[in-house]
Amino acid sequence: MSRISTGVPGLDEMLNGGLLPGRAYLIKGGPGSGKTTLAIHFLMEGVKNGEKCLYITLEEPITTLKEDMGNFGFDLENPNLRLIDATPIGEKRSIFDGVLYQEFAASFEKLTGAINEELKGREYSRVVIDPITMMKLTIKDELEYRRAVIGLLKTIANYNATVLLTSEVGQTDIEEYLVSGVIELVTIRERGKPLRGIAITKFRGSPFDEELRPYKITDRGIEVYSKEVLFHGV
Ligand SMILES: Nc1ncnc2c1ncn2[C@@H]1O[C@H](COP(=O)(O)OP(=O)(O)O)[C@@H](O)[C@H]1O
Ligand SMILES: [Mg+2]
Repeated sequence: MSRISTGVPGLDEMLNGGLLPGRAYLIKGGPGSGKTTLAIHFLMEGVKNGEKCLYITLEEPITTLKEDMGNFGFDLENPNLRLIDATPIGEKRSIFDGVLYQEFAASFEKLTGAINEELKGREYSRVVIDPITMMKLTIKDELEYRRAVIGLLKTIANYNATVLLTSEVGQTDIEEYLVSGVIELVTIRERGKPLRGIAITKFRGSPFDEELRPYKITDRGIEVYSKEVLFHGV
C-alpha cells in the first residue's frame, strides 16, 4: 500500500512507512510541543515532491509562522504551498472566499464552506488545519462540535487529500474518535529537565509502533529517534 511521508523519517518508521493517503490525522500536544513544526514538515515534504499543499492557520499569524519555520530552514514562499491566515485579528477583512473573520469565527460551517470552495478543482494532496481546537471556541455544545468536525472531515474527504489537524491537549478528545490516527507529543519533566516523547495512540488500517519514542526540536526541526526509548529499565 502506498504511504505518505510525514517528512520526519523517524516518525515514518513508527508509522510503518507513513500515513495512509486520503485520510485525516490528529497531532495532539501542549503549547510549544512542536505541532506546527511537525505539520510544516508534512507539507514541505509534499512541496518537495511537487504536490500542492494547503495550510490554514487559526492561531499563529502567517508573518510569525514564516519567521519561526524559516529558523528551521523551511522556506514557506513556494507556489505549491498556499497559506491561509484565519487567525482572530479583529479586523474586518476577508479571510478567504469572501468570508469575514467575524462571521467565520462565529460559524464552523462557514469555515467548512470556505475550505470546500478552496479545495474545489485545486487538487491539493495535503491539507493542514492548525489548530482545529480553535474552532471549539465557536461551538459550546459537545454534540454540535462533534457534528461540525464530522462535517468538515467529510467535506475534505471528497477531495482525496491527506489531512493533518492539530489540537491542544486537554481541550477536547472528540477529534480523536473522528480521525484515522492520532500522534501525541508529550513533555515530561525529569529532574527539572524536559524530556520530549512522541507516541502513536491510534492508526486505523495499519500496524504501528506503540512505544513512546524520544524526539528533539533542533535547528532543522523535529527529529524522532525511532530506535530509542524514552525511559530505560521500565
Ligand atoms: N532551534 C531550536 N532548537 C530547539 N527548540 C526550538 C528551536 N527553535 C524553536 N524551538 C522550539 O520549538 C517549538 C516550536 O513549537 P511549535 O511547532 O510552534 O509548537 P506548537 O505548535 O505545538 O505550539 C517551540 O517550543 C520552540 O521553543
Ligand atoms: Mg502551533
